[in-house]
Amino acid sequence: MIELKEQGFSFEEEKDLGTRFVIGNGHLGYRGTLEEDGKASLPALNVVGFYDRYQDNWRESVNMPNPFYIKAEVNGKPLSLKDNCLDHSQSLILDQGLFQRRSEFASALIQTERFCSKANEHLLCLKYTLRVKEPSIVNISLGFDKDIYDINGPHFKKTTYIRKGRLVRFLGVTNEGDEGEEALLIQPQIRTFYSESYQDDRMLISAEAKEGSELTFFLFATVCCSFFKEPLKAEEEVEEASKKGYEENKEEHIKIFQKHFNSGRVVIQGNKEAQEKIDYSIYLLTSAASSYLTSIPARGFSGQTYKGAAFWDSENFLLPFYLLTDPEEAKNLILYRINGLKGALKKAKEFSYQGAFYAWESQEDGKEGCSKYNVKDVKTGKWVRTYFVDKQIHISGDIALAILSYYERTKDIQIMLQGGIEVLYQVSLFYLSYAIKDKEGTYHLNDVIGPDEYHERVDDNAFTNMVAKKSVGGFIRMFAEFDHQFHHELSSYPDYQQMKSFISQGEDFVAHLYFPYPGTDGIIEQFKGYFDLKDLTPSQIKASLKDPKQYWGGKDGPASKTKTIKQADVIAMMSLFPFDFSLDSLKKNYDYYLPYTEHGSSLSSSMYALAAFRLEKNEEGYNFFIKSAGVDLGGESKSWAGKIYIGGSHMAAAGGSYLSLVYGAAGLSFIDGRAVFNPHLPKEIESLSFSYLEGKEKKKVTIDDKKVVMIESEEQEND
Ligand code: BGC
Repeated sequence: MIELKEQGFSFEEEKDLGTRFVIGNGHLGYRGTLEEDGKASLPALNVVGFYDRYQDNWRESVNMPNPFYIKAEVNGKPLSLKDNCLDHSQSLILDQGLFQRRSEFASALIQTERFCSKANEHLLCLKYTLRVKEPSIVNISLGFDKDIYDINGPHFKKTTYIRKGRLVRFLGVTNEGDEGEEALLIQPQIRTFYSESYQDDRMLISAEAKEGSELTFFLFATVCCSFFKEPLKAEEEVEEASKKGYEENKEEHIKIFQKHFNSGRVVIQGNKEAQEKIDYSIYLLTSAASSYLTSIPARGFSGQTYKGAAFWDSENFLLPFYLLTDPEEAKNLILYRINGLKGALKKAKEFSYQGAFYAWESQEDGKEGCSKYNVKDVKTGKWVRTYFVDKQIHISGDIALAILSYYERTKDIQIMLQGGIEVLYQVSLFYLSYAIKDKEGTYHLNDVIGPDEYHERVDDNAFTNMVAKKSVGGFIRMFAEFDHQFHHELSSYPDYQQMKSFISQGEDFVAHLYFPYPGTDGIIEQFKGYFDLKDLTPSQIKASLKDPKQYWGGKDGPASKTKTIKQADVIAMMSLFPFDFSLDSLKKNYDYYLPYTEHGSSLSSSMYALAAFRLEKNEEGYNFFIKSAGVDLGGESKSWAGKIYIGGSHMAAAGGSYLSLVYGAAGLSFIDGRAVFNPHLPKEIESLSFSYLEGKEKKKVTIDDKKVVMIESEEQEND
């Protein structure tokens, strides 16, 4: 059993603890708040990928009514952490996907356990036990909290609650007209005299409890949403789950959760802190996988921040983990993007381009969730125009490259024929339509935003140009391969002839797209004009701020006209495409850009970790790994962009910390489909071992402190 435990409770940290102790099954997420917590503590049962817009607010994922809202009092005194708690602890059992809590009061002890089932993605279960220490009158009220916490809600314009005995069914209709159904069934298990009544659909229990007696409740909740075109069967499902009972549901859930957790786990010898941190990352990544076609939002299943949308994080920071450990989820991430092509075609048209311009903040079917205004000025409270939606064009290429790497590793021909090739083509068309060709015949991608979002509307961002070139090159390669091997299928595409005649244009683009090749100092200019910017570092900017929440980017942000960058940009490029750059070039750019990097995005550290390990700066690599893996464990992260709350789980940091160890410290790369290891173990780690997939074969590698690499084949488990 691998436990993450928090002893005591800090009210200042309440929001972060709610995030840290979140449980989820990829479809549902339930924040780690306590049962008695109301709206002010931000409790949420979030449905990943179910979106709604309230008035002209941001469209975001929907929170359902909190089914586990329980208030208890003993001898007329409410049990509350604030007033009369003697001892409190809460834990996550990381390898089992369970939340547990123990709170001791002078008069009673509360113990709870809950999980979002991996065996039934609609289901979440709670076991609540109250034990009295002396003969007492106990009153407990259980049921839905109808006052739903939302960032940009309310999302249900119509709500009904219908009670049938111990079952309460909620039906809500969102502002966009979708139905969300939730059923809650409470099973009391009380071996003492008690009375049961109802008020406003909540169950009220009153008991005369003897010393040491226990009142236990099992709560089962199920959620169905018409949004996913599924039948609304929450009521039947909750009845079924309750018949099965808490323990059996728990066993089924743990079996699946544990299997996936173990497939993803990295075992570190000789370093407890590193082990704890990577275990938490694997916990988040295991919890986030689901069978729904929804990708993984940047803030995972922890709530509505960042609109519950998926970013380039999914392709660059998450997909590599699933490719090595969970092929089903890897496929799902790719299918989500293939399915999102319609949204991307629509967006390109709206912006007057051809092909596929993928959403920066992607919602269902690739719909764009990003707005023109994403940040509020701290001084004036006014919206600041940001250009993420219009200009972060590397997203299309990130997706194309993800499809290519998925294919390289799985050889899944069907996925290429059923949309993969089409996406590659449409992304290529998009870049050609965005590019400008100068008199010398060189193509430029001007007016863009690279990964460093503090510098908007720049020309020829190295990262973006690299991604565009590789995507168009990838399409040309794939078209040739598939036209040769699957000509019959490919030639039946309605746009086959267009694809074919695009090839020569694409080749011209690949051959003549501008790239900022370095001068004698070896430094790649992040974008045209970067070298001429004011030479200010993040600490100098920080010292000049009047308000710590101030947003650093945008037109007039304090970093915009300086060399300070939000996150790895050139270094992200070098880490994601290690074979394209020599060690010497990597070293020069690492040393140059590091002092200018704020790491204002949690995506930054892992990109630097990968680079540092490659350069044998193992100590630095290790520190970046710890930073990335510790973000949601009390580490540094920004909860505010101007006046906008952006807290929640940092999924890309979790994925990035896995990458740091596996691709960085263990030095994994794939050559012709074979895994090769070139270890760079830091002195803090005695040995590393983990399982991975090579094609369909499951293998396990162990790397010891002498850099000896041992690879064994593992038994394949069948579901
Ligand atoms: C980062 C983006 C990232 C997004 C979601 C932003 O702060 O700059 O690169 O995709 O957060 O994680």
